Amino acid sequence: MINIALPKGRLGEKAYAIFEKAGYECPEIKEENRKLIFENAEKGVRYFWVKPSDVVIYVERGAADIGIAGKDILLEYSPDIYELADLGMGKCRMAVACKKDFHDDRDRTLRVATKFPNIAKSFYAKQSREIDIIHLNGSIELAPILGLSDVIVDIVETGKTLLENDLEPRDTIVPISARLVANKASYKFKNSEIRTMSERIERIIREG
Ligand code: PRP
Repeated sequence: MINIALPKGRLGEKAYAIFEKAGYECPEIKEENRKLIFENAEKGVRYFWVKPSDVVIYVERGAADIGIAGKDILLEYSPDIYELADLGMGKCRMAVACKKDFHDDRDRTLRVATKFPNIAKSFYAKQSREIDIIHLNGSIELAPILGLSDVIVDIVETGKTLLENDLEPRDTIVPISARLVANKASYKFKNSEIRTMSERIERIIREG
């Protein structure tokens, strides 16, 4: 049995569709209910829905053998797991954004609001820039508008949230997409099952 942690939400549903196409279907997952675990013993798969940022915790600790996680989460938490494949979905970018009239004074400490303190720290450390991190959990765009921060480091997908809040993107830090990840021990002990699954999934992605 392979235990698969899927991120709750649109990305997880798209990811499940790929598993389904790859031959790992579990029809009851599509029923309208609040169950969190779904199993197809015949196909040897058990899926569970978890909060997107928790996928790497389940995988790192072995509660899940494999999972789907955004590159943003992998960069932020650096979990000790294997990254098997880029699913090419959930594409967006990690960017610095600010108010349109913000002029950066490099002699001043930059106040950076973000959900991703480690990504922000490493980006500014490479520039030897002094920063003050303001760690928020959501609605990051509010911070520069209310004068809580000078800039934000956040995910930009369509750019609509920035636009509608009169902010603009400045630097792109890194492109982001969803990745297939695996627990290290599982990859060793369930190697052929996981590799077969990964290969089938990669083929589905290649074939679009
Ligand atoms: C993410 C991100 C931006 C928005 C970007 O927010 O933090 O706010 O999506 O998407 P866009 O460029 O297409 O507008 P999310 O929906 O995860 O909410 P939260 O960060 O406020 O929790």
